[in-house]
Amino acid sequence: KKVVLAYSGGLDTSVIIKWLMDKYNCEVIAYTADLGQNEPLEPIKAKALKTGASKAYVEDLRKEFLEDYVMRAFKMNALYENKYPLATALGRPLITKKLVEIAIKEGADAIAHGSTGKGNDQVRFDVSAVALKPDIRVLVPIRDWELKSREEEIEYAKKFNIDISITKEKPYSIDRNIWGVAIEAGILEDPQQETPEDIFSLTKNPLEAPNAPQYVTIGFEKDIPISIDGQKMPLVDLVTHLNEIAGNNGVGRIDMIENRLVGIKSREVYEAPAAVSLLEAKRALEQLVLDREAMHFKDQLAIKYSELVYYGLWFSPLREALDAFADKLCENLTGEVTIKLYKGSVVAVSRKSPYSIYNKNLATYESTDTFRHKDGEGFCNIWGLPLKVIASVKNAQK
Ligand code: ARG
Ligand code: SIN
Repeated sequence: KKVVLAYSGGLDTSVIIKWLMDKYNCEVIAYTADLGQNEPLEPIKAKALKTGASKAYVEDLRKEFLEDYVMRAFKMNALYENKYPLATALGRPLITKKLVEIAIKEGADAIAHGSTGKGNDQVRFDVSAVALKPDIRVLVPIRDWELKSREEEIEYAKKFNIDISITKEKPYSIDRNIWGVAIEAGILEDPQQETPEDIFSLTKNPLEAPNAPQYVTIGFEKDIPISIDGQKMPLVDLVTHLNEIAGNNGVGRIDMIENRLVGIKSREVYEAPAAVSLLEAKRALEQLVLDREAMHFKDQLAIKYSELVYYGLWFSPLREALDAFADKLCENLTGEVTIKLYKGSVVAVSRKSPYSIYNKNLATYESTDTFRHKDGEGFCNIWGLPLKVIASVKNAQK
C-alpha cells in the first residue's frame, strides 16, 4: 500500500509520515509544493526522506497557482466576508490535484494531509480529492490519532527519531504563499487583544513605513496584471515585487473574526500586500470600463464565488460557470491604474483604458456639456411614477 502525503516539513506532517507507516504499514510518498511560502525546499525534501518517506517530490507551482487559481478568483474580486483574499483557500485545490495525479502515477490508493478536524483546510483537501477521483481514500491522521498536544507529538517524534531540531516552537499557526499569509492561534484567540507587531512578516508597521507616498502604476490586460511602472514582467515576478513594495508601505494587513465552514468563529490575521493593492487597482479599472448593471451584478456574484472557494467547492460546475462569466466581463479590463501607497493605505489615484466608457462631455458641469438636461424631467416623472401612485393611494386611505 502507498500513500501520497502533502508534506510541509513541519512537526505535524513529519510525525504523520511515521504514524502512517506504523498504523497502515504502508509506503509514504511525500509531496511538497512551492506556492511561494519563501522556504528552501531541498532541506524539506531531505527531511522527508530521512523521516522515512520512500520518495519525496518538490515542485514549484507558483506560476500555475497564480495563473489558474489566484487570477480566477481575482477576476471575480473574490474576498471572503469582504476581507480575506483567500490565499490559503485557493492553494488547497491545486495541492490536492497534484496529490491525486501523483497517486495515480505511483499506483497509490490514498492521499493524506495534515489538517485538523475543526478547520476549513480539511474540507478543501477532502472534497477536492473526491471531486477529482471519487474512489480515492483521504487519510487525515490528526483527526484520528491519539496525540492530543504538541508535547505528545514531540514525544512521539523523539520515540521514532524524527528530527525536530528545525521545527522551532512557534506560538502561531502560519500558512504562507505568494498571495498572502494567514496567521492564527496563540494570543490572537482573544478577540480583544491587538495583534502583536512581531506577528507580521510581509508588512512593515505603517508607523515605520516611508514618510513619503509611493506611486505605482499597474498595467492590466483583460484584468490580468502585466506590468509595473511600464515594465512588463511575468506574474510571479510582478506579485513578488508588489508584495515587497506594498508591504514596505505597511499595506495589506487584515484582522478579522471569520466564520469557518465548520461553524466556528475564528480570529484570523492576514497579510496580503499585493492582493490588496491589485484589487484596489483593478476595481478602479472596472469603474471606468464596466457599465453599471454589469458591475453591480458581478459584485453580487463575487460573494458567491468567495464562498465556493472558501467552502472547498473549487472543482464544481458553478465555479467553472462563474469563471466563464468573469472572462466575458473582463474582456475589456485593459489599461493602467496608478495607486498611491502610504503608511498602510492604498488608494487608486489615476486610471485609463482604451475601453473606458467614461465620457467627460456627459459628466462635465462646464460649457462643453452635451447631456440633454431637459430629458431629466421626463426621466424623473417615469422613474418616480410607481412611488407617486403608491403615495396618492395611501393619502386617499387616510
Ligand atoms: N482561515 C483561513 C482559511 O480558512 C486560513 C487558514 C490557514 N490554514 C492554516 N493551516 N494555518 O483559508
Ligand atoms: C487547520 O485546521 O488545519 C487550519 C485551520 C483551517 O483550516 O481553517
